[in-house]
Amino acid sequence: ADANAKGADTRDIGVKLEESKKDLVIFWGSQSGTAEGFANRLVRDCRSRFGLDALSADLSDYDPESISNIPSTKLAIFIISTYGEGDPSDNATQFLSWLDTNKTVQFSKLSYAAFGLGNKKYKFYNKVVDVVVEALDRSGAISLLPVGKADDSNGTTEEDFTGWKQSLFSLFRGTLGFVERPAQYEPTLKVIEDTSLDIIDLHLGEPIKSKTAKKGSTQTSPIQPLPVKTAKKLLATEERNCLHLDLSLHDFPELKYKTGDHLAVWPSNPSSEINILVSALGLQLRTETPLLIQGLESGVKVKVPSPTTWQALLQHYLEISGPVPRETVLSLAQFALDESSKATLKQLGEDKDAYHTYCSMNHVTLGRLLTSLNPTPGAWSGIPLSFILESLPVLAPRYYSISSSSIVSPKTVSITVATSSEPSPGHSICVPGLTTSYLSSLESHTRSITSTEFTFPSDSQLTLYAQVRTSKFRLPTLPKHPIILVASGSGLAPFLGFLDERARLTSIGREVGHSLLFFGCRSPLEYLYKSELEALQTSSQEIEVVSAFSREAGKEKKYVQDRVEEKAEEVCRMLVEENAYFYICGSASMARDVKARVEGMLGKKMGWGEQEVREWSEGLRRGRRWQEDVWG
Ligand code: 2AM
Repeated sequence: ADANAKGADTRDIGVKLEESKKDLVIFWGSQSGTAEGFANRLVRDCRSRFGLDALSADLSDYDPESISNIPSTKLAIFIISTYGEGDPSDNATQFLSWLDTNKTVQFSKLSYAAFGLGNKKYKFYNKVVDVVVEALDRSGAISLLPVGKADDSNGTTEEDFTGWKQSLFSLFRGTLGFVERPAQYEPTLKVIEDTSLDIIDLHLGEPIKSKTAKKGSTQTSPIQPLPVKTAKKLLATEERNCLHLDLSLHDFPELKYKTGDHLAVWPSNPSSEINILVSALGLQLRTETPLLIQGLESGVKVKVPSPTTWQALLQHYLEISGPVPRETVLSLAQFALDESSKATLKQLGEDKDAYHTYCSMNHVTLGRLLTSLNPTPGAWSGIPLSFILESLPVLAPRYYSISSSSIVSPKTVSITVATSSEPSPGHSICVPGLTTSYLSSLESHTRSITSTEFTFPSDSQLTLYAQVRTSKFRLPTLPKHPIILVASGSGLAPFLGFLDERARLTSIGREVGHSLLFFGCRSPLEYLYKSELEALQTSSQEIEVVSAFSREAGKEKKYVQDRVEEKAEEVCRMLVEENAYFYICGSASMARDVKARVEGMLGKKMGWGEQEVREWSEGLRRGRRWQEDVWG
């Protein structure tokens, strides 16, 4: 390690721990912020329950080599997410490839525990944490605890983490002999109201610097405020809707995308949610007051920009529209000013079942929870504001597949935003997503032209903070290869760009292979981009679209995989004889079922056994002729 690497900026974690006198380090690998939030909460728990000083560390902030040299007097904890096809978060990528290329490095001084976040619906469930644990164990590290895993497919990530944390704390109390003390709130931050601050310096909504492209990242572009050119409602149904947005890249010549990339969009919280929380906390007269937020000691990273205001924090920087974790509910009890609220919070916080029942019947944001217990404005002004800042996660971007082609429209990037006003499974109420709030806020910015399409007045200042994220979802390099596309719902988005690009290439005389799209939705009422797809078919004979409706009145239920099977002959020929590329976009369970069906078809048609089918399909994936872009 670099001997000069002293001070706050050192990339040597051993040096950092010594200098900041920390007992342990909690590394996180996080894309959407959940793992990061868990790490930060664990830091606070270590402190308040065991008097242990922990450091929450972004994996990309330290040299991997220095992790192998952490002194044996310290502990390391890893909290790491897995995405998509077994991929690490951007900030863990470097550590994983380092582990892969440095197999002989010894970790013999390292004592560690690890927790992974993943989703069983995906094939590579929690692969990243498994890879890390395997590498550490192989290299002589001492594992203190069986690896913990969260499964998001049934929404238990939070409970899974709480459960694992309990075993970690038993280890602390038992084997490690740390003394537990009565939990007591100890702030890690200081919130100072300072009217002398210059307004110019305030952060009022621009994205958080540390979240913007990491130095040297090739994965993401810088975040820019992209003007919204058009917004169009794609569906007229009440319960499900879809919004098409065109964002202009005109003023950002350096911002380039490729067909198949993702766009990360920073949402903001609706004013209704902000008002509820402001009132509960009694902040009504102070929302615009300049604030300085500082760590109480060195090593505490302030996760939001400072100086800022409560208005900006609640609108742009903190996730206030999401459910309140059970642990936070329990912690809130200590600040309740009346006995009945205290009792309710304690009960909900301690009783897992009661908490889940409550959440399934109520929209439980922090503001709503507090207001339902005591609606008097300011009733909760006793909650330290540092606690609010520490407990709420940072607002994370939402990722959308880009639905335009970079060849056809290099200066406009389009996305398809699905919104739903149906309760999620097991819930009796619907919690509007942040995207639903976009819809309403967009409409208020527009002069409506028709009921479904709104363009923006040219003086409109409406912008969305967004950044391009490179994906692996790519058309064949040679357009003459045929492609098979399978989409459900808003999974159609990237394929619109794919087809648009192929139609353009055809029109300029390039040799373009057949494009066969299977699109599934509930009924013809939810048929996205129908006229666009029809126009594409008219423009190119090589584009073929097959629809599958799962809930069309009076008709048999059809899924995309049923339609694929009806065309088994053609699909198998394209795959085996014509080197077609196969793409799936939509829900993970749909992708799994489609894959199983295609493999079954191939086995039957080709007379292959299970082993042969598996080898063939793995070969296809390795050669990137089978690509998936799926979500939970
Ligand atoms: P369903 O909701 O009627 O069951 C977009 O959501 C479309 O994908 C809907 O038509 C939905 O059908 C369908 N879908 C849901 N699960 C699926 C699966 N496992 N395979 C294929 N399609 C599925």
